Order: sequence, then structure tokens, then C-alpha cells
Amino acid sequence: MKEIPLSVPHLNGNEWEYVKECLDTNWVSSAGKYVDKFENDLAEYIGSENAVATVNGTAAIHTALKILGVEAGDTVLVPALTFIASVNPIAYCGATPVFVDSELDTYNIDPEKLEAKIKELINKGQKPKTVIVVHLYGQPAKIKEIAEICDKYDVYLIEDATESLGAKYKDQMTGTFGDFGCFSFNGNKLITTGGGGMLVANNDQWAEKARYLTTQAKDDAVQFIHHEVGYNYRLTNIQAALGVAQLEQVDEFIKKKREINDFYYENLNSIAGITVTRELDESYSNYWLSTMLVDKNEFGMNSKKLYKKLRSEGIMVRPFFKPINEMPIYNENSFNGENTQKLWDEGICLPSSVTLSQDELFYIIASIKNSI
Ligand SMILES: Cc1ncc(COP(=O)(O)O)c(C=O)c1O
Repeated sequence: MKEIPLSVPHLNGNEWEYVKECLDTNWVSSAGKYVDKFENDLAEYIGSENAVATVNGTAAIHTALKILGVEAGDTVLVPALTFIASVNPIAYCGATPVFVDSELDTYNIDPEKLEAKIKELINKGQKPKTVIVVHLYGQPAKIKEIAEICDKYDVYLIEDATESLGAKYKDQMTGTFGDFGCFSFNGNKLITTGGGGMLVANNDQWAEKARYLTTQAKDDAVQFIHHEVGYNYRLTNIQAALGVAQLEQVDEFIKKKREINDFYYENLNSIAGITVTRELDESYSNYWLSTMLVDKNEFGMNSKKLYKKLRSEGIMVRPFFKPINEMPIYNENSFNGENTQKLWDEGICLPSSVTLSQDELFYIIASIKNSI
């Protein structure tokens, strides 16, 4: 059997037609009808007032932080269990990330620990400016409760929804609870534009500011006068054409990802020591990546060994993200994240491409069962 990838794109809709139109009409750069259409379609899909297309998800998070005025001396709360791109934009602004532990049912920021951290920082006279919540692997965080905490303490909220397009919490789309929501259309994401991102906000002025900052902050479009340092963060029309075609298929992709998760759950969850991740009753996951925890004592092998074995058999699994507080650049010794540590010790991401075949799924299950 050839290698089974973790998560690959599926470009089987109107991608060719829309991209060809860009090439045929010479609209290849950052202006053009597909950029506007992609923004409008995405805003409508998730139920946001505004959407601003960006070159990638990292740029969307950076732009959100800039608009909220995050700067040197500020602190921003963020989970330690995430991809580095949730945290680096804080450093781009010269601010300091302060890590919050995750919870074991969603793998995302624990609302109680978040509130305790906000109180602790306020008592020290270091009130955080913003919280960044990540909906990791497509599982919604308890974002409604988190938004209420942020409101209570008057702290801004950014949702890193880069992995959770189409996922809902209490019937509302992730990315629409915070002051800003950020999406990614990187090659391995639910829908892809090759590379790309989107910033969404209900606040019209902030959306306008995002459009301004992501297009070099031009104050005079003729003379190119600039009063602020802007960025070249705008998505191109060719990428947006891909995005429009991909978004047409998003619900189909989610359906497939949810079937894959059901299959893993039905075939693996009864094995001693394996817990396949499932959504909460109040959540609707997009299962961008299906994941599982491996208890080494009960399963008889730890997750890192199982990872190596599956890789050697051509199955592209991946361990959970290494906690960011352990990275030399963000070394934070005071962080006490017992759940973060457990999730890093035990977590494995399973192949989750929408193109996974039944044979491949059976092969993955057999390989895991043969490890016992
Ligand atoms: C949790 C998380 N945050 C941020 C990003 C950044 O997105 P991008 O790669 O589009 O910059 C990604 C994806 O790569 C991600 O998984």
C-alpha cells in the first residue's frame, strides 16, 4: 500500500474553470472579482458582517492584533497547545504571550483556568489586552463561555479558527464569537487556496481598517501617501478563485470528515487505552483532523512509539503540537499545564483526507490493532 497522507487537498469542483477565467482575463493579482466573491461567500457561510482576505492565516492573526492595538509591553493569553502560528504574531507586535492550560474534553483553552489567569494578571497590574482562542483540530472551544469571560473583564477576543471552518458551538459558527475570527486556507486545511487566509469581524470600522492595513495602508490611492506602516497581506485573485470553488464543496468535505471520525470511533474506541476524540453535545466539529489519545499503560505502548510504528508502515500520523511554552523562543518555565502535557504525551492525529478510501481506513485500523 502506498503512503497514506495526513490531510491532502481535494480540488475536484470548479477550481480549473475559475482559475482559467483569471488567467484568460488577466486578473491575476490582488484585485478582481474572485477576491470580493470569496470574501462575500465566506462571510455569508459563517454568518459574519465582514470578511477580509489575507495571504495566510498568520497574517490574519497579526492584522487582528494590530487593529486591537497590541504592542510592546502588552500581554496576550493563548493556549500552549497549538501551532506556533497562533503565537508568533504576538511576538511580531512586540507583546508577550502568556500561556493557559487546555481542557481534556475539547483540547482547547479551559474557561475556568482562563478566568483565573485573567484575575491573576489584573491583580499584578498586567491586565491582558487580548485572548487568542484556538479551535484545535476543528473541535470548538467552549467559546460562548469564554466570550462571556472576556466581556466581563473587558479583554478583547480573537478566535484562531484556522482549523475549524464550518465547526459550530451552540449552533453558531466558530470565528463569529470574538472581536475577530481568523481562518487559514493552507494546503492541508479543510478548504485550500494553496496559501491563504481570512479575517472576519462584525465591526465595520475594524474590517475597513483590516482592508487598509493589509493593502499597504494607502491613504491616497493616487499619490500613495502613508500615515501608518501597512502590510502586503492581500490574497490574489487566482487564489481567491480556488477559494470560491473550494467553499462550494465545504459541507461535502465536512460530511466526509465526520464519516471518517465515526469510522475511527467505531473501530478504535473500544480498544483498551485508546480514546478517539468526539465533539461535545453542544458542539458540531468539522473533524478537520481526527485525533485520539493513547494511554500507554492500558494500550501497552506509548503514543510516540505507536506514531513511529505507523509511520514505518506508510501511515502519516502526527503527534499533537509540542507545547509552545517548551520552545526555546518562548521558554516559559512558570507555566503549569498538566493537561497540555498529558495531551502532548498521548495525542495522535490520524489520516483525515476527504479522499481516504475504505481500504486505507481498514489498513490504518489493522495497523493500530496489530500494535497491541
Ligand atoms: C492553529 C493554527 N493557527 C494558525 C495557522 C496559520 O495559518 P497559515 O498557515 O495559513 O498562516 C495554522 C495553520 O497553519 C494553524 O493550524
